[in-house]
Amino acid sequence: MLGNLRQYKANPFQAICSWQRDYGDLVSFRLAVRQLYLFSHPQLVEQALVKQSHNFVKMYNPKKPTGLSLILGQGLLTSQGDLWRRQRRLMQPVFQRANLTSMLPQMITAGNNLLHRWQQLGDEAQVNLADEMMQLALEVITQTMFSTSVLDKVGEIASALDTGLKYAAKTISNPLTPPLFIPTPANRAFKQATGVLDDIIYSMIDQRRSQSIEQRDLLSMLLKVRDDDTGNAMSDQQIRDEVITIFTAGHETTANVLTWTLYLLARHPDVLARLKTELHDQLQGNTPDAESLQQLVYTRAVLSEAMRIRPPAGILIRKISQDTEIDGYALKADSLAIFSIYNVHHHPDYWQQPEQFDPERFLTAEKRKLAYMPFGTGERVCIGNHFALLESQLLLSMIVQHYDVELLNNDEIEIEMAVTVRPKGGIPVRLKRR
Ligand code: HEM
Repeated sequence: MLGNLRQYKANPFQAICSWQRDYGDLVSFRLAVRQLYLFSHPQLVEQALVKQSHNFVKMYNPKKPTGLSLILGQGLLTSQGDLWRRQRRLMQPVFQRANLTSMLPQMITAGNNLLHRWQQLGDEAQVNLADEMMQLALEVITQTMFSTSVLDKVGEIASALDTGLKYAAKTISNPLTPPLFIPTPANRAFKQATGVLDDIIYSMIDQRRSQSIEQRDLLSMLLKVRDDDTGNAMSDQQIRDEVITIFTAGHETTANVLTWTLYLLARHPDVLARLKTELHDQLQGNTPDAESLQQLVYTRAVLSEAMRIRPPAGILIRKISQDTEIDGYALKADSLAIFSIYNVHHHPDYWQQPEQFDPERFLTAEKRKLAYMPFGTGERVCIGNHFALLESQLLLSMIVQHYDVELLNNDEIEIEMAVTVRPKGGIPVRLKRR
């Protein structure tokens, strides 16, 4: 009766990898009453998400929210149709490269705060790398979203988001989760967490509207945008949804990139040595600026390869809106499609020795257009991709210039897939100041 629910719930990441290995690039499976299809081949993903994007839609229904939309409302990640199109058009300019480089100072401040905190911990301090990178990325998104005004609330925001996101993921992996109106302990904790987030964000919006000094941050930019056709600004509710969306989409993913990159570098001393040489030659101990970041070609290749082998967003999910056909297979309306970015990034038809961490791949003109999609593909591709690349290149170069990160455990770290691909149990490391 439960179909493949038990196996999927026990370890979604293992299930997705082994089903591709055992059954191929397009696999049909069932979680209780829900029919799903798993896509693992770049061309099949393209057929669905680029050529037939009208049939593969976001699964969220504003009248009956589930999954991420329980917490993100109708922000850019979860909305669709005309609302999504309008919001994407309004928000696209905010994420243009020129705007983003103006936020570099805030990102540098967050990076310096981390280095300072590590210095205070003393020599050879032991920390959990995943937690450290999460705090760093959260501080970057807080600084760039609100300037410094809510830094004292970072902990509160992080914990409320964590509760909310875990709950949201559970409603997807287990369709038998009791509806929100039933006061189970988990439901109550979720409602309390969203209450905390709403209070912080709405009070920031109120405060900002009543201020005369303009800040150069994402919140100001969102408050300022106007629809070209109607001249209207966004409603407070819409801004709340976009703020939580950017907050959520914009920190855990980047934290994962930095965590996995530092982990992979610690396991590959040859790559680390080459990276240090580039940083030394190009920066000579200085913090990079927008121009010098452009010169860090190997640093970019290291990050690209880290995002291939450990894609921060492991899967994309869509609802199939009408009966359709992909590669000769009939897919049923109302079932769900899971696109495994992880499987695509390890597909043996496209990547030689896919398990090997080798940044060199990104220095040569290897054919990989379809088979590389850390930021998704099609019209819903990540709007924050330039932001994320700028941020991770900057912070990686700041960390590697000042610290050696030594793994306390030599075993390979297991992957845990919730909404993102995380290291299970974090990564314990020793910090050595260089
Ligand atoms: C390395 C870091 C990041 C990765 C790997 C990543 C990955 C992704 C992916 C795969 C999607 C597509 C989701 C789908 O098709 O269902 C996406 C969408 C999105 N991302 Fe990112 N992201 C990253 C960083 C960021 C940052 C820093 C921001 C904001 C500051 C951001 C904001 C968004 C938003 C708003 C969307 C929804 C776009 C839309 O549907 O129009 N992301 N991201």
